[in-house]
Amino acid sequence: MEIMQAKRLLPGFRLGRYEIDVPLVLAPMAGITDLPFRRVCRRFGIGLTVTEMVASRAVDMKRERTQKIVQVDADEQPVAIQIAGSDPHYMRQAAQWAVDHGADFVDINMGCPVKKICKQLAGSAMLKDELLVRRVLDAVVAAVDVPVTLKIRTGWDERSKNVATIARIAEDVGVQLLTVHGRTRAQMFHGHACWEDIGLAKQAVSIPVIGNGDIVDGDSARAMIAASGCDGVMVGRAVQGNPWVLAEVRAAILGEAPPAAPTPAQRWDVVYQHMQHLREHHGEATASKLARKHVPWYSKGLHGSAEFRSAFQQLHDWQAQLEVAERYFLSLSAAHGALARAA
Ligand SMILES: Cc1cc2nc3c(=O)[nH]c(=O)nc-3n(C[C@H](O)[C@H](O)[C@H](O)COP(=O)(O)O)c2cc1C
Repeated sequence: MEIMQAKRLLPGFRLGRYEIDVPLVLAPMAGITDLPFRRVCRRFGIGLTVTEMVASRAVDMKRERTQKIVQVDADEQPVAIQIAGSDPHYMRQAAQWAVDHGADFVDINMGCPVKKICKQLAGSAMLKDELLVRRVLDAVVAAVDVPVTLKIRTGWDERSKNVATIARIAEDVGVQLLTVHGRTRAQMFHGHACWEDIGLAKQAVSIPVIGNGDIVDGDSARAMIAASGCDGVMVGRAVQGNPWVLAEVRAAILGEAPPAAPTPAQRWDVVYQHMQHLREHHGEATASKLARKHVPWYSKGLHGSAEFRSAFQQLHDWQAQLEVAERYFLSLSAAHGALARAA
């Protein structure tokens, strides 16, 4: 009997000296995808990671927080350091500084919808000024020897969508990879990402285009690839508390069967590692603050999640958090084992 094998959906591409074999990118998310969480996510087979964004002027200040944001692991390759800003002079400096800090690629943020950033005409506000887009990209491409990549939204608002124009400018000045979040700035994170709009960028240029927005599992990744014709996919919010989704999307890209859902013991293993990485990178006080955000996400949809969340969120001590989390996840594990034995 012939065994049907699903087809690999995306072949991968070359970027600078790197072969991106599995074009699956972890989305940069400020306050979420720090070094500890990227370490966790890298276990699940991503092809490229991007740091949280750094405002180009902050670079001058040598702030400890900024230094932590751009810290990457020696074996975290390839990794892009993301910079944001609208002044070509500062952006040039920031790009060089990013390379000095280990960036294999410099990624430019023209997608951030936050008011504070847009007020400085940075992030997604730049999309309104195509001449400025060209000047900033030009300055950054000329400043560094590594590939420059760009992340955008589809435009400022519904009436001024210019995703194809921006894509062409980017390719023209030498940007080597484009990521498109299929929403306008006006949409913020509401409504749905329009995957067909990502396709407009793909049709306009020959550099690889990564599609982003609303991928939550293997099926949605397949649907985005079909709707946009993109060369790779980027996953953001769906990884919060669920890095396993990356393995599922990876399997979809490769045409493989989806991996089994994690057992409670496997889940605890990841939570434990994540908490340890948080402490190592941020110190115990900040680790505890960040754990209050991350750890409850891991319990979403599980038995007793609401009680666990409210108990966990009252704890301000990392060690106590670790103990409470261990008790919760191992109790699920024991219940899971009993069920498996009974079956
Ligand atoms: C909390 C949060 C922080 C984010 N920070 C950044 C950032 O620093 N740089 C960036 O380019 N995009 C940032 N984004 C946008 C994501 O990278 C991504 O484009 C968006 O969440 C859509 O993808 P998703 O539907 O898979 O989440 C952020 C999103 C969230 C939710």
